[in-house]
Amino acid sequence: MKIISSINEMASFVKDAKSKAKSIGLVPTMGYLHQGHLSLIKEARAVTDMVVVSIFVNPTQFEPGEDYASYPRDMKRDALEAEKAGADVIFAPRAEQMYPESYSTYVKVEGLSEVLCGRNRPGHFRGVTTVCAKLFSIVKPDIAFFGQKDAQQSVIIQKMVKDLNMDIKLKVLPTVREGDGLAMSSRNKYLSSKQRKDALVLHKALDQAKSVIEAGENDVSKIKERMRNIINKVDSKIDYISIVDPDSLKDVSIISGRVLIALAIWIGRARLIDNIIVTRNQ
Ligand code: PAJ
Repeated sequence: MKIISSINEMASFVKDAKSKAKSIGLVPTMGYLHQGHLSLIKEARAVTDMVVVSIFVNPTQFEPGEDYASYPRDMKRDALEAEKAGADVIFAPRAEQMYPESYSTYVKVEGLSEVLCGRNRPGHFRGVTTVCAKLFSIVKPDIAFFGQKDAQQSVIIQKMVKDLNMDIKLKVLPTVREGDGLAMSSRNKYLSSKQRKDALVLHKALDQAKSVIEAGENDVSKIKERMRNIINKVDSKIDYISIVDPDSLKDVSIISGRVLIALAIWIGRARLIDNIIVTRNQ
């Protein structure tokens, strides 16, 4: 496996692969890889010829005062894990190369970027779409792989690809969880052992919502109330709990058909997100 940090070197690797008619799979990450990331790499290995995993803690998607500087990093371990999962290349550009001082171009998907996680992180998705557009231009993947864990991110990137006529297929794969249900996340590292237990409320609240919907409840305000009751049992702060249409991300008040239930909860210094898609049979 190669580790490439120069954009030019990455571009010539891509040119060479394309000249040999190899398909390219890209798994964009911010590193500190866990089984969620590895599931994307393994799928890329299974369906494309050349698997590129980008590892880049992208400064433009962090709000001022967020955890950019302290975001966990471990390139040595990531390289071993990515290689075992089937990566051919790790692309780990330096921030100064991705965003030189003269940098001034941003991509923003309007509307979808302002709801859910965008409400309290107003510049976040502009940073995500900008870096993904740059990675797509450099790596020119046939398929890019994303996780359902970041449901809104996947919807926004899909919209960017469509609106900007990018010739890239996206594949969104299911959320990988710990044995007890906690969604895997690089930020779980911030949790103390007590907070790690408390963090189970995200999954419990989603599970509860699913059960009550399947039992016939369709009133969103009642479902959210039950979710809040579960979360408020532990030391936590709710950023949002939302029940929305999975494609438009618009709020739903009475559930009929498919909905995305998404939430963001602060536990200590960790802002954790999780979601599920539930279908209510009429
Ligand atoms: P990061 O949080 O490192 O996640 C990289 C990819 O892994 C994303 O597509 C995310 O949805 C997926 N992922 C994370 N946890 C997962 C889990 N438990 N199960 C399945 N997939 C999971 O998301 C980002 O980085 C960045 O915003 C990025 C897209 C790389 C742009 O900087």
